[in-house]
Amino acid sequence: MYPVLADIHGAESNPVPLRADFGLPSIAELKRGKKWNFQAALTLVATPNAPSGRGYATAELETLCRAQKGVVVLDEAYVDFGNENAMSLALKHPHVLVARTFSKAYSLCFQRVGYFVGHPELIGALQKLRDSYNVNGLGQIAALATLDDLPYYRATFQKIIATRQRLSRELEGLGFEVLPSQTNFILV
Ligand SMILES: Cc1ncc(COP(=O)(O)O)c(C=O)c1O
Repeated sequence: MYPVLADIHGAESNPVPLRADFGLPSIAELKRGKKWNFQAALTLVATPNAPSGRGYATAELETLCRAQKGVVVLDEAYVDFGNENAMSLALKHPHVLVARTFSKAYSLCFQRVGYFVGHPELIGALQKLRDSYNVNGLGQIAALATLDDLPYYRATFQKIIATRQRLSRELEGLGFEVLPSQTNFILV
């Protein structure tokens, strides 16, 4: 959706491919490839990634964030199914935002509730340019209700992760190539 949304807003987009194994290219590789823009106004990384399911280490993301001049958005839509999260980067670096959603792990995709965490200056800028209408009221009530029952959701994440691992093993046993996943889906 990022290129589509960029087009709608008349922004210049510059999609850069991942490695063949869906890993993040290193800074040296990005420099060699000459396509990556270290001066980009906005850099978007989905972590864990979709549709590969691959997760990225926080240390690796931090190296990338440090190399960027503009704002970096780390889209953590699937983070509850992963081994690591990069929230510390949004709290440490004033140009990094972490995006989260209630659409995946909290099953509220029909409510469209998401949020950014980052430096007050960036959040203030978002507040200035966002639509004047707020997240809908029922969505807010539903999102708050999930937070009242986090043990239930955390147990569910563990069940989903266990199912993902079992399904991956079974598919591998049938001869499929299954990519390691840190999300609630697998690429086979
Ligand atoms: C990486 C990623 N970010 C965000 C979203 C959507 O989040 P939301 O429902 O909050 O718009 C998706 C949904 O498919 C996704 O795959």
